[in-house]
Amino acid sequence: MYKAPRGTADILPQEQSFWRFVEGKAGEICQVYGYERIDTPVFEQTDLFCRSVGEGTDIVEKQMYTFADQSGDKMTLRPEGTAPVCRAYIEHGMHNLPQPVRLYYIGPIFRYERPQAGRYRQHRQFGVETIGEADPALDAEVISIAWGFYASLGLEGLRLQLNSIGCQDCRPAYLQKLTEYYTDHSQTLCPDCRSRLQRNPLRLLDCKKPSCQGIVEGAPQISEHLCQECISHFGALKDYLERLQIPYELNPYLVRGLDYYTRTVFEIQPEKMGGQSALGGGGRYDNLIAQLGGRPAPAIGFATGIERTILNLRHQGILPPSVPSARVYVAYLGQEAKREAIKMAARLRQSGIPSIMASGSKGLKSQLKQANSLGLPHVLIIGDEEMKNDTVILRDMAIGEQTSLRLDEALARLQERP
Ligand code: HAM
Repeated sequence: MYKAPRGTADILPQEQSFWRFVEGKAGEICQVYGYERIDTPVFEQTDLFCRSVGEGTDIVEKQMYTFADQSGDKMTLRPEGTAPVCRAYIEHGMHNLPQPVRLYYIGPIFRYERPQAGRYRQHRQFGVETIGEADPALDAEVISIAWGFYASLGLEGLRLQLNSIGCQDCRPAYLQKLTEYYTDHSQTLCPDCRSRLQRNPLRLLDCKKPSCQGIVEGAPQISEHLCQECISHFGALKDYLERLQIPYELNPYLVRGLDYYTRTVFEIQPEKMGGQSALGGGGRYDNLIAQLGGRPAPAIGFATGIERTILNLRHQGILPPSVPSARVYVAYLGQEAKREAIKMAARLRQSGIPSIMASGSKGLKSQLKQANSLGLPHVLIIGDEEMKNDTVILRDMAIGEQTSLRLDEALARLQERP
C-alpha cells in the first residue's frame, strides 16, 4: 500500500472549504492593498537559496530537497518564497516599474523537517513582498496586511512580536560583542549553540533549550547597538503601527531563521502556543536583491503557512463558509431516456445549476437512494412517458413530492429554490 510521503498530506474534498476560505481571503486583502499575484516555479537553482537564505541556516544545511536533473544541474524544491520572487524581480527588470513593486504569492514550499502538528515537509505559504523602497511606512503596510488577513478570517488573540536586527553598518560590531560574550560561556552551551557560535552567532538568541536561557537573558541586546538610521527607521515603524492601532510586543531575542533580514523582523504568534509555532513572519531584506546580482533595491515581506492558519481556525472553532455543491440529481428510466437525460443535465449546467448525472444501469430506486446519500435536494427524472409528453418529473427529496413539468418550468423552479 502506497502512502503519502511522511510530512505531506492529501487535502480531501471535505477539507477544501477551509483552503478556499483562507486562500480567498489572502487574495482579497492583497487586492485591497494593490498587490499583484506572481507565481514562480516550484524548483530553482540550488545556489539561489544558498546565497539568499544563507549557508549556515538550518534550511540550507538540513532541510532542502535538492537533486541533480538529467543534465546534471543542481536544483532545489523551493524552501521559501522570497528568493524566487527576488530572482523574478531581477530577471524581468521590475526595477523599471514604478517602485515599490507590490507582489503576492500562494504556493507549495518544501522543507525536510521532523513532522509534527503544524510542521510538514510540504506546506503552502501565502506571502507578500514589497520591493524597491526603504520607507518604514512599507514595513507598517506589510504588517497591516498580515494583521488584517488574520482578522478577516476571524482569528483572535494573536500577538505581534517585533524587533530590529540592524543593518550592515551596525550589526558587525554587535555580532562581535555577542561572539565575545558567548565565547566566555562556551563551556556551558548546548551542542547546537556551540555550532551556532561558529556559523551564525545571531541565531544563538533563538535557542529554546532551558540550559541556554540564562545565557540568552544576559546577552548584549541589538537594540542597544543600532546605528542612528536603524533607530529612526524602527521608531517610525512603531509610530505607524500605533496609528494603525496594531498592538506589538518588542522581543529583543527575535532573530528569524533566514540570513537575508536587515532591520525590521516580526512574527505573529497564535494564542497560547509556544515560540516554535509562529503563525507567520517576515521582515526587511534591504541587501538581498543586490546580493543576487540586481540593482540595489530595499524590500520587506511576510509569509504565513496556510496549514498553520487552518489549524488555528479549527482551534478557535471558526468554520469556513461551505462550498456550493451540486443540488440536482438527474435520473433516468431506461437507456433511451438516458440519452435524453444527458442532454437535460447539460441544460441544467449551462443554466448554472450544479447537477450530478446518474450513471450505469441502476434502476430508478437505487438512483434515488444514491441522490439521497449524496444529500441532493432535488431529482429530475425522465422516462418513456416524459419523453413522449416533452416533460420531466421534479422530485423534492425532503418531502418526497413529485411534479410533472415542462423542462423550462422545472429549470425556472430550480433556479428559484436553494
Ligand atoms: P518562515 O518564517 O520560514 O519565513 O515561514 C513563514 C511561515 O510559513 C511560518 O510562519 C509558518 O507559518 C509557515 N511554515 C514554515 N515552515 C513550515 C513547515 N515546515 N510546515 C508548515 N508551515 C510552515 C519565510 O519563509 C520567509 N520567506 C517569509 C518572508 C517573506 N520574509 C520576507 N518575505
